[in-house]
Amino acid sequence: MADSTLIKGGRVVDPSQGLDTIGDVLITDGLVVSAGTIVNDAPKDCTVLDATGLVVTPGFIDLHVHLREPGQEDKETVATGALAAVRGGFTTICAMPNTEPPMDNAAVIRQVLDAASQAGLAHVLPIGCATRGRMGVDLADMAELAAAGAVGFSDDGSPIADSGLMRNALSYSTTTGLPVINHCEEPSLSKDGVLHEGWVASRLGLPGQPAAAEESMVARDIELAALTGGRLHVAHISTAGTLKLVRRAKERGLPVTAEVTPHHLILTEEWALGTIEAGAGELTAPDKYAPLTRSAYDTRAKVNPPLRTEDDTEALVAGLKDGTIDAVATDHAPHTSTDKDCTMQEAAFGISGLETAFGLVNGLVDRGDMDLTTAIERLTSGPARVLGEPYQSSIGTLKPGASGDVTVLDPDAEWVVDSSTFASKGRNTPVDGITLKGQVVKTIVGGRLVHDLQEAATKGSA
Ligand code: DOR
Repeated sequence: MADSTLIKGGRVVDPSQGLDTIGDVLITDGLVVSAGTIVNDAPKDCTVLDATGLVVTPGFIDLHVHLREPGQEDKETVATGALAAVRGGFTTICAMPNTEPPMDNAAVIRQVLDAASQAGLAHVLPIGCATRGRMGVDLADMAELAAAGAVGFSDDGSPIADSGLMRNALSYSTTTGLPVINHCEEPSLSKDGVLHEGWVASRLGLPGQPAAAEESMVARDIELAALTGGRLHVAHISTAGTLKLVRRAKERGLPVTAEVTPHHLILTEEWALGTIEAGAGELTAPDKYAPLTRSAYDTRAKVNPPLRTEDDTEALVAGLKDGTIDAVATDHAPHTSTDKDCTMQEAAFGISGLETAFGLVNGLVDRGDMDLTTAIERLTSGPARVLGEPYQSSIGTLKPGASGDVTVLDPDAEWVVDSSTFASKGRNTPVDGITLKGQVVKTIVGGRLVHDLQEAATKGSA
């Protein structure tokens, strides 16, 4: 007998087909049958989920997640990362290859895919290394990686610094049609910088990374995409200058796409100051004139690329709104507490981002920076477009025949971030204790309910 799920009575918002209406979503045998119409003849024995008063969208897609397995399972496993994903409304996550060993061969890719199917939560799409061992010397075997299921190539965490190698990576990627995803950071400029090269780094006496470290490599990569015809996806863009470069590349019709993280949209360099005590409450930049707390600095805000200035966040929000930026991606980077409870220079770069992403992005909607449909587009059909076919037809959309992946949201629900309850092993977030508006209520993957906020709350772990 067919296995059906009916999500009833919600506001169905599916930007892939311009849908915004009160209606139902019917999923049978893992695939969408209909979305937005009222289903009066639901199959017998179908599971009914009430979504009255809630927003029902295609399952979110995260193009940029660090799962740490194999090799650093104390930070995260595929299973804990996938659970964090569905708690955050993500039904598909792309796994970055900076594992140990790195994902530069088919065997490691298969290992990650096996762990993902055992977890049975979000779809996990692996990104293969661009260079062997992520060493930036020889290209990885892209054809082998693509055949094993890689959806793109990246050395994320490190840039592809050698221009000739980047040229070759883009050239060879054309044989697979998959994007090269570069972490743009010119090492001779970023050096050992731990924060943005600005007043906060100066005040704390720390080396900074100038905006030009990112922008110079983005400019280079855009010209190499023009030269080769290879698809360039710019990871985690963080500066107003990068945004201008991407905008101009798109105007030129080049095959260039870009993503931004929730933290680079909202947080600024001031968050690295130890001026807020845990639980301080509001999502406003720490007061730069407030006295420093006992800690004097906050390693939870150390991330690469670094948090920048208000001019940058404003430009990035505008770029997300106007479509220059295709997707919101979390750069979920879980670390242990010992990786973070140390000096700023010793601390690992990274923010645990899957479980706060919607609350942060919806904050932009709440303060009138963009409408909900645009925000949802950048979490669904936007990233699906970056992945291209066959993914674009099957995820990030509720068109009939697509995978039955659905996220149910309450954009009005306020909640306080408590990282001790995260499903992720990584509790490293600067927004711990902050009140966010916008909550993921249910997540459905292939027609199966894999996250229910109420159930998670009864277990004491929402
Ligand atoms: O902050 C970051 N953390 N940026 C990266 O590019 C890598 C990531 C990680 O793997 O921890």
